[in-house]
Amino acid sequence: MIVLVVGGAGYIGSHAVRGLVQAGHDVWVLDNLSQGHAASVPAGRLVRGELADRGALETALRDHKVDAVMHFAAFASVPESVADPAKYYQNNLVGTLNLLDAMRATGVGRIVFSSTAAVYGVPEVVPIPEDAPKQPINPYGFTKLAMEHALADYARAYGLGYAVLRYFNACGASSDATIGEDHTPETHLIPIILQVALGQRESLSVFGTDYPTPDGTCIRDYIHVEDLADAHIRVLDRIEPGRGLTYNVGTGVGASVREVVDAARRVTGHPIPVVAHPRRAGDPPSLVASSQAIRRDLEWSPRYNAIEEIVASAWKWHKSHPHGYGTP
Ligand SMILES: NC(=O)c1ccc[n+]([C@@H]2O[C@H](COP(=O)([O-])OP(=O)(O)OC[C@H]3O[C@@H](n4cnc5c(N)ncnc54)[C@H](O)[C@@H]3O)[C@@H](O)[C@H]2O)c1
Repeated sequence: MIVLVVGGAGYIGSHAVRGLVQAGHDVWVLDNLSQGHAASVPAGRLVRGELADRGALETALRDHKVDAVMHFAAFASVPESVADPAKYYQNNLVGTLNLLDAMRATGVGRIVFSSTAAVYGVPEVVPIPEDAPKQPINPYGFTKLAMEHALADYARAYGLGYAVLRYFNACGASSDATIGEDHTPETHLIPIILQVALGQRESLSVFGTDYPTPDGTCIRDYIHVEDLADAHIRVLDRIEPGRGLTYNVGTGVGASVREVVDAARRVTGHPIPVVAHPRRAGDPPSLVASSQAIRRDLEWSPRYNAIEEIVASAWKWHKSHPHGYGTP
């Protein structure tokens, strides 16, 4: 298939691009490089373009005779979405509608959309099944949920075929450590811990040590970025016109902040000093995916299950790229 990966110069998108190429697809990337890195895209495959530019989207879809779109482009910081919701509704929601309309105009009928565990808000049941109530607690989660609704409506009315993948906490790097996570500012736990191990931060701030969890810290489901990429490639073949597929993508097993820190201490040999802070508003105690549906339907299963393996994968990238894709 000819696949346009929108946001394919970003962290998860670049791993999906690599997986698609390895699976034999013909891949193009459209990205404005606001967060992405040209160095993570195969040579000659990057179209510098903007979701807001409907003409550029249509040109890319038409010129490359695209069969399917994978859409990773979005802003994804929860606190920033609370401080500046307009930025999020504009880019994530208006930008995605623009993409869907460009697809309609050019007759491209298949899309895989990056959604998030944030659509569940504070879950009533953990592990969280796909049919759990959708009650986001921040604008970021609302933008993603709104797009899930738009996709369903476009499928019914216009015959769009789509897959929604709700990721839990993406982490790790490619197994050869040539592409990995490089966000500015960094907000994700594992890279921040590894910045402490690299001497780039003095300590790790842990927000909340009195949650109703076994060690008092928050529990999350850490899913390796190559396992996420694999889920995209498997679901692409299953998309049918006028039909939607929705899956959680997580391991089904959670790790607490303390467990991640302990794993990083073992992997890096660094003591990783920790400073405890009060809870932050809006952090659910535990977010773990039920991944039964994707395991059953797509015969997908994560290759990385142990938190230590995941941290080791991230460490290999961060140690060999202490300044990410850039220079110090
Ligand atoms: N990282 C996670 O743990 C996680 C969890 C759940 C969901 N997600 C979702 O997965 C997707 C990818 O996340 P990521 O961590 O790889 O983020 P990322 O910021 O690394 O990648 C997003 C890419 O989209 C590009 N982009 C953003 N706005 C654009 C625009 N208007 N036009 C063109 N390109 C644009 C950026 O330059 C970047 O390369 C996002 O939609 C995010 O909401 C991520």
